[in-house]
Amino acid sequence: MIPLAELPTPTLLVDLDRLERNIASMAGAFAAAGVGLRPHIKTSKCWEVARRQLDAGAIGFTCSTAVEVAWLQSRGVTDLLWAHVPIGPRKVAFVVDSIARHGGGLTVSLDSVEAARPLSVAAEAAGVTVPFVLEVDTGHGRLGVEPSAAIATAAGIAALPGLRLRGVLTHEGHISALAERSDLERAGAAAGTLLVSIAEDLRAAEFAVEVVSVGSTPGATSAPFVPGVTEGRPGTYVYFDGNQIRLGSCTLDQCAQTVLARVASVRRAGRPIIDAGVKAMSSDTIAVAGGVGLVLDRPGVTFPEANEEHGFLHEGDADPLAVGDLVRLVPNHACGTTNMWSHLYAVRGDMAVERWEISARY
Ligand SMILES: Cc1ncc(COP(=O)(O)O)c(C=O)c1O
Repeated sequence: MIPLAELPTPTLLVDLDRLERNIASMAGAFAAAGVGLRPHIKTSKCWEVARRQLDAGAIGFTCSTAVEVAWLQSRGVTDLLWAHVPIGPRKVAFVVDSIARHGGGLTVSLDSVEAARPLSVAAEAAGVTVPFVLEVDTGHGRLGVEPSAAIATAAGIAALPGLRLRGVLTHEGHISALAERSDLERAGAAAGTLLVSIAEDLRAAEFAVEVVSVGSTPGATSAPFVPGVTEGRPGTYVYFDGNQIRLGSCTLDQCAQTVLARVASVRRAGRPIIDAGVKAMSSDTIAVAGGVGLVLDRPGVTFPEANEEHGFLHEGDADPLAVGDLVRLVPNHACGTTNMWSHLYAVRGDMAVERWEISARY
């Protein structure tokens, strides 16, 4: 056990009490509704966190990269959804090889016949069948087929040898653009309803649809609970972050991930400089207007700007900080911050109790 004051700074921390509460409450809500919870691993990339999610009832994980898939397979996780189109020869070979070696356990996401064709050729040559879900764009405007083209696209892909349709997937990320929580909840439910209706159309067209998968943290209280949805894929909920506070998904006291930093200079009155910048926090400022992160336990102190290794705080009317003081910062986007770090300290209260590796970064 190491007191926080003895840790190097900057350091990435995860508060165990908050982490455990976040895991238990999402798992409880999904279990009560009979919906599978397939957390996105990109938020933690950390086995000790993943293990706790599995112990709490997660059915498997969602991955965004081949490295995440390979890492979780090496840890023995056998139910993985790679929610990104496996495009290019390396990803195609990785999918086919991993299904051949593990005898299944991996489902990929596809949204066009063009993207599916090389995978089909490789799967057929290797004598394996690749299970896939059809990604549908329910409003996010990223990957995903237009709802009106879903049946034709699913039929076109499923007709290719070596590929087997398992169901449909959407990422309702567009709901994050809505300012009012009630609008956001309605939009999350609408995305789920649209996906279920596409699943029903596919069943009417004689396709076996076993998976109806929605997924996001802001949508985790709405989309998964539409009747007919089989699983949800929130990721950020495990730590929460500044963006999720703004979206009404959580409160500050649920945020489990922080960066520990020290005041390095107070030479400019009201403008302390800390030893954590964008390489500690990530430069993700998308949703918390103009800030690099939130400052914990220092009411009135803000974190408007940063260089790579320097952070610029504004004290406002708060008590002045002194050189050497510790500050804890809540990142705007937990997943981006995780990706900056090779390890973290798990803390209870003011004590670091374990050091955990962060895996599967680029
Ligand atoms: C396909 C997919 N599923 C699930 C998630 C998890 O969403 P969140 O980060 O809001 O928890 C994401 C996040 O980007 C995603 O892209």
